[in-house]
Amino acid sequence: MMTDEPFRPSLHLTPPKGWMNDPNGLIKIGDIWHVFYQHDPGSTLHDRMHWGRASTRDFVSWVHHPDALAPEGEWMCYSGSAVATDDGVKLLFTEHKPLPSGGECQRQSLVHADLDAGTFRRDPANPVLTSHGAGVFRDPKVIRHESSGRWIMLITTGQEIAFYSSQDLVAWEFESVFGANDGFHTDAPWECPDLFELATPEGETAWVLSVGVAGGVPGGGTGTQYFVGDFDGRRFINRNAPDQVLWADWGRDFYAAQSFFRSDGGTPVWLAWASNWRYARQTPTVAFRGALTHPRELSLRQTPGGLRLIQRLPETVRRSLPLASEAGPGGVAAYREEFTLAPGEVLRLFGEDTPQLRRSEDGRSLMVTRYGAWAETAAPAFAGSYQLPISDGPLRGEVYVDHGIVEIALDDGATWITEVHYPDALTVAPEVCRWSPQEAA
Ligand code: FRU
Repeated sequence: MMTDEPFRPSLHLTPPKGWMNDPNGLIKIGDIWHVFYQHDPGSTLHDRMHWGRASTRDFVSWVHHPDALAPEGEWMCYSGSAVATDDGVKLLFTEHKPLPSGGECQRQSLVHADLDAGTFRRDPANPVLTSHGAGVFRDPKVIRHESSGRWIMLITTGQEIAFYSSQDLVAWEFESVFGANDGFHTDAPWECPDLFELATPEGETAWVLSVGVAGGVPGGGTGTQYFVGDFDGRRFINRNAPDQVLWADWGRDFYAAQSFFRSDGGTPVWLAWASNWRYARQTPTVAFRGALTHPRELSLRQTPGGLRLIQRLPETVRRSLPLASEAGPGGVAAYREEFTLAPGEVLRLFGEDTPQLRRSEDGRSLMVTRYGAWAETAAPAFAGSYQLPISDGPLRGEVYVDHGIVEIALDDGATWITEVHYPDALTVAPEVCRWSPQEAA
């Protein structure tokens, strides 16, 4: 556990030093979860991008390893993924070069990894896929499509996701595109796609495609939406109406989510970058900047509107967090607590005057508020409120807090709100009470 500064979480992964953004190359081999991440070891501002590297058996304690990939000349190492093949672990990532014109040049490259030896050898055939021109062409997510016996790569091309297929991870063939007319769009590109298959309660399967969307998400800035559909190895077909927008997390700090490649048939698990490009470069940590969220196990639930994503903390991670209500008099900075919120009630964290959640009197909406004196001049977009719709029945939730990183699961994991706070009092236990307007003064 690192305690060099107050906002260093104790369970969540942070870089020992420097900048972190997206999770990359997530892969489970044997009992070990391997995590790479966008890392600038030389600054706390996104600049010369490397792939940082860590591993864990339990998502509670982490082993840090030397960076896996470093820039070559002007080519930075942007986001990508990992797969296990008969010939070992392979990484696919975007090489990114800013152009003098202000544009960007992006291409995909293959790396042969030996995780035990800690060696990462670039393939001589690189780049294995180019965009044939400038523009957004990045964040390769590679999965194994068992029924067609091929590798599938998803790439963002800006407002849509392109699908490619390959037998050998070197020669890639274009298959299709998805998304220009589906879901939520802004002028900014979609980023960091992911695709995974989940069992349905009816005993069939459905595919979930997720993408990061910049700008204009409910709380402002960058967020993660998903689609539920079918994938035949060539084309993704959305099962919902094109204008249906589904948020994987309503919070302001859940971006670039990625699931682990695992060949053991276990439950799909993903995690995300716990920050937001709107203010990521201004947050008030010193030696490091950026963290990844807790992992979440993924499943599907049937609802009147169709299949929806359910995310739950793995039970082992959940149990490793003490209950705030059972902590000693000084409190703890990493804890969990279950709560229920009746209409008109609020959830207050860190003893702050402004409650973080406030359920409306009619019970049908939730106001999420974040405050931060440090942000008033440094990052005005950090503070503020937004609303999300909820159903009017009983509202049960569980909050997970780790030195200001707050992840809230409502309705047994159907709705999530992830937001990072930088409070004065990290160890004050959460409190549910009735909202009284005088408190607002
Ligand atoms: C998403 C992103 C990716 C890109 C990476 C660069 O946060 O913008 O699209 O590969 O960050 O660090």
